Amino acid sequence: MSLKQKLSAALYDLIMKGPEAAGVTEWRRQLLAKAGGRILEIGPGTGVNLPLYPASAGELVALEPNAAMAERMDQHTYAGSGDLRFVQGYAHDIPFEDESFDTIVATLVLCSVPDPRETLLELKRVLRPSGRLLFLEHVAALEEGLQKWQDRVDPIWNRITGDCHLNRRTADHLCAAGFEIEELERAPMPRAPALVRPTIRGVARVS
Ligand SMILES: C[S@@+](CC[C@H](N)C(=O)[O-])C[C@H]1O[C@@H](n2cnc3c(N)ncnc32)[C@H](O)[C@@H]1O
Repeated sequence: MSLKQKLSAALYDLIMKGPEAAGVTEWRRQLLAKAGGRILEIGPGTGVNLPLYPASAGELVALEPNAAMAERMDQHTYAGSGDLRFVQGYAHDIPFEDESFDTIVATLVLCSVPDPRETLLELKRVLRPSGRLLFLEHVAALEEGLQKWQDRVDPIWNRITGDCHLNRRTADHLCAAGFEIEELERAPMPRAPALVRPTIRGVARVS
């Protein structure tokens, strides 16, 4: 476990406290209300989504590479009715068979995966044809001025945070990987620094 991994795990909830209280938790709750059946959550971090799942949610597989994050996850807070199973691993190499999940949840994680296209193809592989990908991500800005700043600062940001990118074009990556975006909302993340403020959230299906 690297020092960066330990630090990001120790600071994550503190950093997100303001945005969560100002609206992000409510975004999560509304998004997760759509989760059903057998669920895979990639990069659950400290488990902030766990208490926000609906009681009807089934078995949840939490796939997280950073053991320091996982150590902070209280598995008892899972609000779904199925079991929670923690698996250490990466979203680009999911240790499950094809078409094995009804819902995949990705919140604030596609900014951190090494290759979004490779990861999204892997998510598509394990998602059932009738399944849904629920996403909430901070992304590249639509406004040119802010986008340029995101591009400029990204190399430094990525080094400081360990893996996060400011300028991911996640909606484009979803479409390129063969997902059809069914619902999409863009909104500024409340009480967040300008460079991470642009977000998208919604639902995608395999097209
Ligand atoms: C910014 S945190 C978000 C945590 C949580 N999903 C949330 O919504 O607050 C990013 C998480 O993604 C995880 N992560 C990074 N690269 C990953 C990968 N390739 N596959 C799966 N998870 C990854 C990190 O370890 C971390 O827990």
